[in-house]
Amino acid sequence: MIQSASPKILVTGATGSVGMELCKALSGRGVHFKAMVRAISKAGDLAKLPGAELVQGDFDDAGSLSNALQGIERSFLLTNSSEQAEEQQLRFVEAARQAGVLHIVKLSQWAASADSPVRFLRYHAAVEEEIRESGLRFTFLRPNLFMQGLLGFRDTIRNQGVFFGAVGDARISLIDVRDIAAVAAAALTDPAQEDKIYNLTGPEALSHNDIAEKLSAAVGSPIMFVNLDSRSLEKMLLEVGFPQWQAEGLVEDYAHYQRGEADEVASGVADATGNLPRSFDQFAKDYADYFKA
Ligand SMILES: NC(=O)c1ccc[n+]([C@@H]2O[C@H](COP(=O)([O-])OP(=O)(O)OC[C@H]3O[C@@H](n4cnc5c(N)ncnc54)[C@H](OP(=O)(O)O)[C@@H]3O)[C@@H](O)[C@H]2O)c1
Repeated sequence: MIQSASPKILVTGATGSVGMELCKALSGRGVHFKAMVRAISKAGDLAKLPGAELVQGDFDDAGSLSNALQGIERSFLLTNSSEQAEEQQLRFVEAARQAGVLHIVKLSQWAASADSPVRFLRYHAAVEEEIRESGLRFTFLRPNLFMQGLLGFRDTIRNQGVFFGAVGDARISLIDVRDIAAVAAAALTDPAQEDKIYNLTGPEALSHNDIAEKLSAAVGSPIMFVNLDSRSLEKMLLEVGFPQWQAEGLVEDYAHYQRGEADEVASGVADATGNLPRSFDQFAKDYADYFKA
């Protein structure tokens, strides 16, 4: 049922990988929500979802955040990963506090910690800490590596049958973003999910060679994983346009995987939703056409 009153839920990062799946999940549950977008004219797909109402907002513009947050009780907080992410998210938390928001569901990351050698894990920990200190209710979602990250290798997979990383034989309990979205939808609609931290993984830990094998089987043509040393990976990322800060961060992230720090299987998806997370085989089957030459 779609309620007619002004929506009390705000989704940020709504056009992105997790955010779009979250909007679909809320819409599918009959929830009325606002989706914050930078450019309403470019968010046609979101506007078509039943229950969705678009509101303009930019993490770099505090006034637009205050406006987007008027009347909101619960908000999903996600920015893309960048050197500005911490500052942008702290600006949002302050705007939410001032607007009287009750609860923030923050998309964080597996192993977020203030003393991590990985810059992404440090900034997520800093934002988590600020949300706790602000007195707002919180739910922190700490997902492992996204299966959908492979979509970024579409061209090299289609044209050369390869994808890259600097991870060796390390196993990672990677997760489908549709399961992260399901947890976020539960957290935004069920007050029992307040003040919880969910470690989110898929059902098994896989090496990148395992991933290549499973993807090959689903796509029906050979796909190989090419392991790079850290320096070559950074060079490749810079060549395809990643900013220096982000490329260095990804190298740190891969080193963290290589140390075996992301191979645990956690129960967060089932704890929050009652459903088991999707397997990589399921992801590969669902996205096989995307990778076919
Ligand atoms: N990739 C992984 O394996 C992984 C694992 C764990 C955690 N994470 C975390 O996941 C997050 C990224 O999630 P994602 O992949 O869903 O992101 P994404 O697909 O890159 O989407 C980013 C979203 O942020 C919006 N955005 C960017 N700049 C904005 C601004 N100035 N104001 C308002 N909105 C803005 C984008 O909107 P536009 O359409 O306007 O650009 C888009 O909707 C990061 O925090 C990362 O640390 C990633």
